[in-house]
Amino acid sequence: MGARIEGKNIVREFKVAGERIVALNGINIEIQEGSFVILKGRSGSGKTTLINILGGLDEPTKGEVFIDEKEITALSETGRDDFRRKSVGFVFQSVALISAMTAFENVDFALRIAGYPQKERENRAKECLEAVGLSERIYHKPSELSGGEQQRVAVARAIAHKPKIIFADEPTAELDAEKSFQIVELLKRVSKELKITVVMTTHDPNLLFAADNVYTLEDGEIIDVR
Ligand SMILES: Nc1ncnc2c1ncn2[C@@H]1O[C@H](COP(=O)(O)OP(=O)(O)OP(=O)(O)O)[C@@H](O)[C@H]1O
Ligand SMILES: [Mg+2]
Repeated sequence: MGARIEGKNIVREFKVAGERIVALNGINIEIQEGSFVILKGRSGSGKTTLINILGGLDEPTKGEVFIDEKEITALSETGRDDFRRKSVGFVFQSVALISAMTAFENVDFALRIAGYPQKERENRAKECLEAVGLSERIYHKPSELSGGEQQRVAVARAIAHKPKIIFADEPTAELDAEKSFQIVELLKRVSKELKITVVMTTHDPNLLFAADNVYTLEDGEIIDVR
């Protein structure tokens, strides 16, 4: 079952060469469990920074993040690592599969890291690759797959340990229009059928149709919600 995500007054500042950069300037956001949400906005508006903080990869300078009733910003680093490993899946712009491993091995490896019992891993990995339409390609290595197929392996890997939330940061940036459309349809299906909360960022206005809610960021602030 998906999780509800709440960010309260999130501020993230960076210091570079003595200068202070405000990447997020008081973000308030409430994402319903099982919904499919898109964050859009120009380059540098704060999308990746926000995703990293909501997903527990980074800590805010100020503010709080709650996942269901749990405040993840109050956890220690190991607590956050643990939360991430169990409850969150990530999909990134450049696919980041392990090139020496087949599609099957990539998903299996992610299950191993998540602590999945060995007996269940094989079936689960195959089931997830089937769910993304890659049953015929499970023994292909990344270099033997198209860009869209590689990104589908990344989605299979992200859903394999049954996370409550998937964060996808520009997952279609390196794909053409049709493949982008397919990946977004896949993420939407994952969100609805598996009841996983999905938070995705994109620049592409053609993909917004799929979202339950679209948040527009500008200069570290949410300026529009629809
Ligand atoms: N580690 C960092 N150190 C310093 N500044 C950073 C760091 N990460 C991000 N920033 C700055 O914070 C702002 C927001 O960056 P962020 O990566 O969140 O933007 P984005 O909306 O994801 O952009 P893009 O669409 O290009 O991916 C930018 O001005 C960026 O330069
Ligand atoms: Mg980004």
